[in-house]
Amino acid sequence: MIPPIANRFVAGETPAEAIEYAADLNDRGVTAILNLLGEHYHERPPADEDAAAYRRLVADVGDSDVDACVSVKPSQIGLDVGPEVFAENLETIAAAAADHDVFAWVDMEDHETTDATMDTFESLARTHAGNMGLCVQANLKRTEQDLDRLADVPGKVRLVKGAYDEPDDVAYQDKPDVNEAYRTHLEFMFREFDDGVAVGSHDPAMISYAAELHEEYGTDYEVQMLMGIREDAQTELAATGVPTYQYVPYGGKWFSYFYRRAMERKENLVFALRAVLGR
Ligand code: FDA
Repeated sequence: MIPPIANRFVAGETPAEAIEYAADLNDRGVTAILNLLGEHYHERPPADEDAAAYRRLVADVGDSDVDACVSVKPSQIGLDVGPEVFAENLETIAAAAADHDVFAWVDMEDHETTDATMDTFESLARTHAGNMGLCVQANLKRTEQDLDRLADVPGKVRLVKGAYDEPDDVAYQDKPDVNEAYRTHLEFMFREFDDGVAVGSHDPAMISYAAELHEEYGTDYEVQMLMGIREDAQTELAATGVPTYQYVPYGGKWFSYFYRRAMERKENLVFALRAVLGR
């Protein structure tokens, strides 16, 4: 069982708990993006095991009444073992997701993985048109070119600011520069993308800018936020008719994810400590 200290950010240890959480989220008008926690496997067996877990998850979601999609990290299903292992495992997940009519997202990890992730995504998205999406990061200087390329690939794209520490030859280091890049990319996506835009951000400024761009270009969009962050804003946004998604991590490997969330913001740390102290 996930202890109270972490259950603001993690939905449970089992797929059944995650699906039950997703059903409650649906009652608030929000759709779940389920993510089995795990990353950086350097051996094939754990990568294959997590790929199999994702195949079972999409089958369970497909058999349920729950409105949910999934999001998978490349290094969780074999990218650190080899790009061909990642491609093979992602293909099986994409096929299972398509069979069960469940949308499959691919997360983006550090810049050394971007080429392999883009290449594999592009070939699979062409086969499973309309059922897959990829995350791109505004802090990376290459993202303008990547978005140009993705404009011709079927599937949705989630724009985030970027969560990895990157060297300054490949990534903007200062927040204002990342924010400016985020706005520039968002405008490009609303102007050029046919399959909709996913705004992966808690930033009220970016969410209102997306609403303005939607008015201007008419492109469909959705907003995605993390479990445990601005939950009220998620419910309110959904009530206004904006498709709203919550990224919902679950699984036995919850500690390091919880630790990152708790440490990134003073308010989160205070919240976690209150849970420990029972106040
Ligand atoms: P930022 O952190 O700049 O915060 C901007 C504003 O948002 C704040 O000033 C505040 O108003 C509000 N805010 C932010 N956090 C808050 C909190 N805890 N409480 C209250 N208000 C808060 N990264 C990556 O590299 N690869 C990936 O695949 C993904 N995937 C992904 C999926 C989804 C659905 C989300 C939401 C995010 C990711 N990320 C990611 C993480 C992303 O790159 C980024 O690190 C975080 O979203 C934080 O950036 P923000 O855009 O939220 O803004």
